[in-house]
Amino acid sequence: MSEEAQVELEARLAEQEEFEPSAEFVEQANVSDPEIYDEFEENWPECWERAADLIDWDDDYDTVLDDSNPPFYEWFTGGKLNASYNCLDRHVENGDKNRVAIKWEGEHGTTRTYTYQDLYREVNEFAAALRELGVEEDDVVTLYMPMIPELPIAMLACARIGAPHSVVFAGFSAEALATRMNSANSEFLVTCDGYYRRGDPLDHLDKANEGLDGVDHGVEATVVVDRLGDDGFGHDLRGNQHGWDDLLADHTGDRVDPVQRDAEDMLFLMYTSGTTGQPKGVKHTTGGYLSYAAWTSHAVLDIEKEDTYWCSADIGWITGHSYIVYGPLALGTTTVMYEGTPDFPNRDRLWEIIEKYSVDIFYTAPTAIRAFMKWGSRFPEQHDLSSLRLLGTVGEPINPRAWKWYYKHIGNEDCPIVDTWWQTETGGMMVTTLPGVGKMKPGSAGPPLPGIDAQIVDTGGKEVEAGRAGYLTVNKPWPGMLRTLYKNDERFVQEYWQEYSDTDSDDSDDWVYFPEDGAKVDDDGYITVLGRVDDVINVSGHRLGTMEIESAIVGVEGVAEAAVVGANHDLKGEAVYAYVITEDGHDGDDDLRGRIIEGVEDAIGPIARPEEVVFTPELPKTRSGKIMRRLLEDVANGDELGNTSTLRNPDVVEDIQQKVQQQQRT
Ligand code: WT7
Repeated sequence: MSEEAQVELEARLAEQEEFEPSAEFVEQANVSDPEIYDEFEENWPECWERAADLIDWDDDYDTVLDDSNPPFYEWFTGGKLNASYNCLDRHVENGDKNRVAIKWEGEHGTTRTYTYQDLYREVNEFAAALRELGVEEDDVVTLYMPMIPELPIAMLACARIGAPHSVVFAGFSAEALATRMNSANSEFLVTCDGYYRRGDPLDHLDKANEGLDGVDHGVEATVVVDRLGDDGFGHDLRGNQHGWDDLLADHTGDRVDPVQRDAEDMLFLMYTSGTTGQPKGVKHTTGGYLSYAAWTSHAVLDIEKEDTYWCSADIGWITGHSYIVYGPLALGTTTVMYEGTPDFPNRDRLWEIIEKYSVDIFYTAPTAIRAFMKWGSRFPEQHDLSSLRLLGTVGEPINPRAWKWYYKHIGNEDCPIVDTWWQTETGGMMVTTLPGVGKMKPGSAGPPLPGIDAQIVDTGGKEVEAGRAGYLTVNKPWPGMLRTLYKNDERFVQEYWQEYSDTDSDDSDDWVYFPEDGAKVDDDGYITVLGRVDDVINVSGHRLGTMEIESAIVGVEGVAEAAVVGANHDLKGEAVYAYVITEDGHDGDDDLRGRIIEGVEDAIGPIARPEEVVFTPELPKTRSGKIMRRLLEDVANGDELGNTSTLRNPDVVEDIQQKVQQQQRT
């Protein structure tokens, strides 16, 4: 392209606010008829049979939606099925046994390929091993594993025997593991000796063992995958710890019949951050969740079984559950799994993988896209990315500039982008364009999916005008929704639901789901998500509770009080700022700062590491003693300060401001 043409193109892209999918894309898309929105509305809730039809049921359900006890909705009641059967057996039986299910790319360039037959075999063998270890239906099995194939294998083996899994992100700390095992009363753990990060082996078993020491009930058995081989750290397995390979060798060729699960039986638990210190155990079910993951993979990601599809998230988060494992495998496609980081050994690693496997569909996060942008277009330009047909993003708002960069430099202006808004709790995508139907508007996720009733409301629950910011709400249940918080129905209702009984009828329509996000809607119904409205920070697309981090900080010796806020960050979206008051007799010095950072990493993991620790003699408080976080945010962002007149101690803000500016300069 000539320089002139390049300049012209840049100018056009900078102005263009709407993009259409190409006719070629629309023609081949799984969903391309705009009528689908009306169809779903007119035929609600039966429209959701479209989702249920994508999976195989042992017994058909009698009711699509049981809304007799809102907000405890049930979906596909009476139906029986097994998720592992749906992701494996049916493909093996239907002539797809030699199709590749998982393409795994190790950080060092070693690869492993599992056909559906291979995966079926290993899942069966591991399911047999779990049974032998004493795992029974409904026992929660904790999986504390990085991005190795044994993780999806263990998930599907659990699903096969009806044991809900609880995956704990490998980057989380020992303490975080213990908290989650304690909360779920989980007596089984699958983990590994270690894994590679930027070329170096990392000791994972040491952390897992430390976590096990913090479990307050008996642990029946631990399974340890040998990932590092000769690079391992030489740990001896403890009494009730078993090597993965030994267990499989004992069960070579074993087959385990998939257990028939009720549609509403728990498929898995996933812990996520909330506004209090305790993480929330989000419960997802077998029928509704699997149908919804499969449906959105089909309709939004446009996955067909002939595709090679890649979601670069970690399976330790919900994105990986729904869109690396359950959705893609239920549809019988090839899903790529990458162990490492995008810049190892070089900054073109992801593009190299896309070229190598001729990836058709690529799904990633804005935080990654911003990093690619910063590294420059010369890295993707080194590779042939022409296999790509569709791009996706998830995790946080994407700014139009990053959207356009992604569109141009990765998609060659030829691939639609789906900007998908959803949450751990929603199980699957909720607000996004259908790539074969709608125009795209950079920065705006799009309309709610067919059958999803989302609105933007004010504090009184009244819908706000177009263009005005308000709270995003969901006004009808959907199959992928969380059913409750594990063993805490009360908190489930209190945290997410609001009943508006001022309407005339008292049916389920009165119940409204609050995701705790701010948003606005345009005249054309496109929703722009603005970010969290609660005390949750979104760092690189990962949710962290400010209370969680604060309680880790006040646990450090020498700390009297702490307030944590999120500050804007070019790459991470938000970064953690910690304002700390020291205890009498302790100095706010580098030693304490180091111990605070360590304390946070120990309690949660490196992901929650404070970007800045700011020592201050006081925190800005209202007359009633409430910390004014908004001001602390303004300070961290270098913004004009909001109103300080309601403060008990207005002077302190200026002092803090000076300190922060000084620290940010160094
Ligand atoms: C929160 C959910 C969904 C899987 C990954 C995160 C934010 C998510 C978008 C988007 C703007 C987004 C919201 C949401 N978020 N996707 N496309 N545009 N914001 O799952 O950890 O449960 O976090 O991520 O704030 O509430 P999660």
